[in-house]
Amino acid sequence: MNHPHEEQFLVFGSPLIGEEEIAEVTESLRSCWLGTGPKVARFERDFAAYKGVSEKNVAAVNSCTAALHISMIAAGIGPGDEVITTPLTFAATVNAIIHSGATPVLADVDPQTMNIDPAQVQAHITSKTRALVIVHFAGRPCEMDALVTIAQKYHLILIEDCAHAIETEYHGRKTGTFGDFGCFSFYVTKNVITGEGGMILARSEEHVGRAKILALHGLSKDAWRRFSDDGYKHYYVTECGFKYNMMDIQAAIGIHQLGRVETNWSRRQVIWNAYQDAFADLPVIRPTDPEKDTRHAYHLYTLLVDEKSTRISRDRFLEQMTARHIGVGVHYLSIPEHPYYQRTFGWRPEDYPNAMRIGRQTVSLPVSPKLTDTDVQRVIRAVRTSLTAP
Ligand SMILES: Cc1ncc(COP(=O)(O)O)c(C=O)c1O
Repeated sequence: MNHPHEEQFLVFGSPLIGEEEIAEVTESLRSCWLGTGPKVARFERDFAAYKGVSEKNVAAVNSCTAALHISMIAAGIGPGDEVITTPLTFAATVNAIIHSGATPVLADVDPQTMNIDPAQVQAHITSKTRALVIVHFAGRPCEMDALVTIAQKYHLILIEDCAHAIETEYHGRKTGTFGDFGCFSFYVTKNVITGEGGMILARSEEHVGRAKILALHGLSKDAWRRFSDDGYKHYYVTECGFKYNMMDIQAAIGIHQLGRVETNWSRRQVIWNAYQDAFADLPVIRPTDPEKDTRHAYHLYTLLVDEKSTRISRDRFLEQMTARHIGVGVHYLSIPEHPYYQRTFGWRPEDYPNAMRIGRQTVSLPVSPKLTDTDVQRVIRAVRTSLTAP
């Protein structure tokens, strides 16, 4: 096997950071305003403009996990309520439901789109179901017509986990605007990054107001206004909130990242399509093309490695790629594979067969806009060699 040791390790999900971000963070440091301040306000305005909503409908927080958690609390979801979600997601989606006090219920995914299957959602609705948390997996929009119809029929709060899907659209409408809440992540590997960070987009201004209070200990005024130059303002604790506010240093990065969201998207689209073409003749399952009248965010490019056809196991393939200095990911082992959820809810992977199979076969390849054409060719070569001459 040819190990190109002289080539640098291609880190999976490494972000593209521009000089503007570096200058803006430096400016924040020099101004000594590090906490929640004018840059967070500007990032919220820019984000709202990108999504075509009012700034009164968004609230910046310090992660998507926080966004999911306080969205549920702001919607009044808690103990005794059931919340349906997908088994093919990051632990954060399910943990946020648990932290709200509600009981998570899983509905399996569609094997092609890897998104929650509306028929499975329907099958899991009980008299206790209060909310539906969907994930636009890999950046591909869920079947929103069917899911919105179900949410309306059963009076469910609809929360969109848009951690992969900032640029995603479905039938001309942007993700995060279908549900009562859209929750976004700006974690380092995401399409727009702030290091750690998140955003809530809520249809109701009341929900946003409550979320903002919940994100800062339940205080009636935020720290920026408290210490502004128009005099000291008392604050009052109106409920027991959390410490989920975003810092200006984070927003300083996000403002410029958001400014390049579309050029980065175009670059990822080119990489995604290059992989689609390059692997057409291999015995792996490629992602299905984006559905008609939708926009995919191209957050993840995933191959399914089925040992029966490839004669190499998924885990061996991961090792082979790593040995060839290509960072790869697994999104995700299905939620019921993890001991905590098995112990707590009695979930078994076999009960969600589509998510189980995907989780055991999937491999994510690098799609960062930082990849050069040479990097992309290196990934393609490594995939081909790992599969044909393992
Ligand atoms: C689908 C999904 N939901 C939620 C999260 C949590 O995001 P954050 O790290 O910003 O809390 C992630 C992050 O990896 C994710 O992929």
